[in-house]
Amino acid sequence: MKKELAFKYLSYPAPVFVIGTYDADNRPNAMTVVLGGMCSHDPPSFAISVGPKRYSYQSIVNRKAFTVNVPTMQYVRETDYVGIYTGRKADKFADCGLTAVRGEVVDAPYVEEFPAVAECELRHTIDLGSHTMFIGEIVNTKGEESLLTDITVGSRTIQGIPDMGSGLVLTFTQGSRYYCAVGEPQEKAYTVGRLIHRTKGAEG
Ligand SMILES: Cc1cc2nc3c(=O)[nH]c(=O)nc-3n(C[C@H](O)[C@H](O)[C@H](O)COP(=O)(O)O)c2cc1C
Repeated sequence: MKKELAFKYLSYPAPVFVIGTYDADNRPNAMTVVLGGMCSHDPPSFAISVGPKRYSYQSIVNRKAFTVNVPTMQYVRETDYVGIYTGRKADKFADCGLTAVRGEVVDAPYVEEFPAVAECELRHTIDLGSHTMFIGEIVNTKGEESLLTDITVGSRTIQGIPDMGSGLVLTFTQGSRYYCAVGEPQEKAYTVGRLIHRTKGAEG
């Protein structure tokens, strides 16, 4: 039997990202989002939903660019700080001791200390109500080499995958409002479901 569930808990836990932008005075700024994720492979695209009162909002509209930075547990305080305070009043990069590096391709800064970044050019803006969805085309990505690993599945080795087993990757739980680490991989996607298929003796 099912009972009513608050919509927020459907994405539970949610990945956490830090969005990098330049303001009208060319000052770098950063804000935390959990309303975000990959939304297309071709063209590679990333969607974030940003409230219109956020200082970052106008920066994204003006510069038509943002970076998506992936924080690790080591930077949980900094990640929370840039999600609490506004760049209108604070230099959040300086306050956190983080380094803003100009994007190689887009007009937005990325966080040098974080292990992965995607540079995005704004392609679509959709007003959804409380938040506006910005869809950016990913035009450049970079990952910290020491955190990338190779995984062997059967006879196939996949190279350059972020290391999930180290407890480094942050997620956010709505409701309880906790940052949680991602644990050990459990079951292989696109694979474990085939067990049902086999049990049923289906074709394909
Ligand atoms: C864990 C967490 C998740 C957040 N997710 C979002 C989000 O998805 N969208 C949003 O507009 N604000 C989100 N916020 C709030 C903004 O990060 C916050 O208002 C920030 O101060 C905005 O910075 P700015 O005014 O410098 O742009 C989140 C904050 C936290 C702590």
